[in-house]
Amino acid sequence: MTVQKRTTKAPAKKRKSTGPKGAAKKRKSTAPKAKTKSTRPKAGAAKAPAKKRKSTAPKAKASKTKSMPKAKAAKPRKSKPMVRLKAVPAPPPAPKRTAGGKSALHTRICEMFGIEYPIIQTGMGWVSGASLTSATSDAGGLGILAAATMTFRELEQTIARVKERTDKPFGVNMRADQSDIMKRVDLLIREKIRVASFAQAPGERVVKTLKDAGVLTMPTIGARRHAEKVQAWGVDAVIAQGQEGGGHTGQIPTSILIPDVSAAVDIPVVGAGGFRDGRGLVAALALGGSGIAMGTRFLLTQESQVPDHVKEIYLKTKANGTIVTKAVDGHPQRVIRTALIDQLEKANPLTRFPRAALNALSLMRVTGTSLPELLEEGIAMKQNQELTWSQLAMAANAPMLTKASMVDGKIEAGVLPTGQITGVIDEIPTVAELLQRIMAEAEQTLDQLGA
Ligand SMILES: Cc1cc2nc3c(=O)[nH]c(=O)nc-3n(C[C@H](O)[C@H](O)[C@H](O)COP(=O)(O)O)c2cc1C
Repeated sequence: MTVQKRTTKAPAKKRKSTGPKGAAKKRKSTAPKAKTKSTRPKAGAAKAPAKKRKSTAPKAKASKTKSMPKAKAAKPRKSKPMVRLKAVPAPPPAPKRTAGGKSALHTRICEMFGIEYPIIQTGMGWVSGASLTSATSDAGGLGILAAATMTFRELEQTIARVKERTDKPFGVNMRADQSDIMKRVDLLIREKIRVASFAQAPGERVVKTLKDAGVLTMPTIGARRHAEKVQAWGVDAVIAQGQEGGGHTGQIPTSILIPDVSAAVDIPVVGAGGFRDGRGLVAALALGGSGIAMGTRFLLTQESQVPDHVKEIYLKTKANGTIVTKAVDGHPQRVIRTALIDQLEKANPLTRFPRAALNALSLMRVTGTSLPELLEEGIAMKQNQELTWSQLAMAANAPMLTKASMVDGKIEAGVLPTGQITGVIDEIPTVAELLQRIMAEAEQTLDQLGA
């Protein structure tokens, strides 16, 4: 059983990658005509490319727009068709900038992970399931399954489903403080998963076990000292997420973090937080990164199974419509500012506790965790993250609040983790189209720079 509800049309069949080589050719559209005009130009949004070409994306059903929860910065607008596909720029000629026969856009992580493009779709709880992950890997990037919100059995089944859809490498995102972490580590080894990613530092034992068995590790970090620490443990790469990024996030902006971390460690640094296009990819490489990792941009694709009316809210949110709050689980988390968030922000931490405890019990049922396991996990989390009991109950709270919106579509009862980049995203392409567009724009940007 998967924990995600399928609400958008995604191609079930294995598709052929439209990889970089494909970038040199024009693709023929075989799919029904999709809207190519964005109905919501936003400040700072990418200019429409001069040349238009036909979309190969399946025409998606226009969804009914539900009214927004009372959100200060994200006012509801008139109902519009949700799926807006922009024309993709004409693919550029074959890459000219070569180093040892490879394009400058073919970076260390391409070699390390065995992928065509230096683009990673990050693990997002309740969002990155088999559909999104397989679509990303199949299209030439690295898709990552979000496993922290899955039971062990669901993880096994979801891995099998990804393998049915693609034979390309993909990753699994985990929480190292889960009580069955070593069982999950064994599963990844058995299944020959290419990469294990972690929201937080995974611990030396986990890194070593995976490394010895040939699984690459890549935690997300938000500060230079964390990158240095995990490098010493032997991790293979880091995702450096700047404060503009979605979900749990740090304080340092991406533009400062990437060069700072890249200068401090020898392993590849993948930039995250605020990326959506080819110009961003070139910028990340210029700052010393080996690629980009994106959450929000991938959440807003056809293959992401988030309900349509929830995607619509992301599309309508402006860049200043997000907030970093500790009110959800005690850790700074970037979310869309809604009435619920305002309510949680104002609430006395003592009154948040009963709700958090109830949600912790629900999560226990969803993930198949027993009470002793929950306590064991809780104690480990408490020690690792130096949390108070109250913060711990709140930490258990977050995944259920995310499930309420991302799976059940109950916006008024759930949180909507997001990066600020949502403010300049106004369409829902297919994953293949997105990746092709990013690579084409990166090539054009390098051309313009005379690189
Ligand atoms: C809805 C959502 C859920 C997320 N869940 C997780 C998670 O389970 N594990 C994790 O490591 N990061 C999680 N993140 C963070 C993303 O993996 C990624 O690092 C971040 O979104 C990058 O910033 P961007 O949104 O600007 O691209 C989540 C982000 C979002 C938006």
